[in-house]
Amino acid sequence: MEDLVLVNQEGKVATVTINRPKQLNALNGDTIAALSITMQELEENESVRAIILTGSGEKSFVAGADIKEFANYSVEEGKALARRGHETLFNLIENLRTPVIAAVNGFALGGGLELAMSCHMRVASDNARMGLPEVTLGVIPGYGGTQRLAQLVGKGKAMEMITTAGMIDANDALKWGLVNHVVALDELHAKCAEIASKIAKNSGVAIAAAMSAVNAGFETGVNGFEAEIDAFGEAFGTDEFKEGTTAFLEKRKPDFK
Ligand code: CAA
Repeated sequence: MEDLVLVNQEGKVATVTINRPKQLNALNGDTIAALSITMQELEENESVRAIILTGSGEKSFVAGADIKEFANYSVEEGKALARRGHETLFNLIENLRTPVIAAVNGFALGGGLELAMSCHMRVASDNARMGLPEVTLGVIPGYGGTQRLAQLVGKGKAMEMITTAGMIDANDALKWGLVNHVVALDELHAKCAEIASKIAKNSGVAIAAAMSAVNAGFETGVNGFEAEIDAFGEAFGTDEFKEGTTAFLEKRKPDFK
């Protein structure tokens, strides 16, 4: 069987490609499990400082959860499917210490858009189309879409996208703040690699702490400002803080290990 997930490392940047192009990279259980393991392995790999996540082929990032797999599920199986996805992949990516850039190279629908939204940032190619079409199937977004879409584009636009099930193109996604940049498809990897290489030069320890503080502000019952104060203070105890500040005072570039 062909690998469901491909990994390619160039320098400090790993590219993860979801590899079910004939099914438009739809997320079945095996693909979710493989992605979960891959992301955990990359987080533990200290030579990897940024991750680019993309889909195989030129048509689709990910066209959603695998409808063929869940079409006959019961209520309990449906709940378990969503919970497993949240816990093993979508929350895992959001809380990863290593920044993940979604390179949205075509359709990002349903679970596919939800996957892109669990990443720390998104860059789209100009052929990309995004939407949450779940209500056309009589189901709702189940991998965090009702929450993360509203966080990214605001409640009103999220309500429109979810209730109409319509797709938006890359330029509207840019206007709405759903993606950070739009480039031609053949420039997508280079644009993501450019962002990743900037990330890779900075303190990985500080980046992980800063991303965690940003995420804290979106957690119920957690005070993001308090999380920031704690993480800011903790930074003073790290070798990377010593290296960063010493390098500044010595007028040289920092060398973060
Ligand atoms: N699940 C399973 N298979 C899928 C799929 C999906 N989400 N999306 C596409 N495929 C499969 C098609 O069934 C087809 O396979 P076969 O050749 O075996 O029939 C193959 O991928 C190619 O797809 P199309 O022939 O449909 O390609 P197209 O260019 O005509 O249309 C598309 C492209 C508009 C993306 C269309 O495939 C589509 O609408 N896909 C479904 C999108 C969707 O509804 N996604 C939400 C899924 S539900 C979800 O994600 C729930 C959740 O939040 C957890």
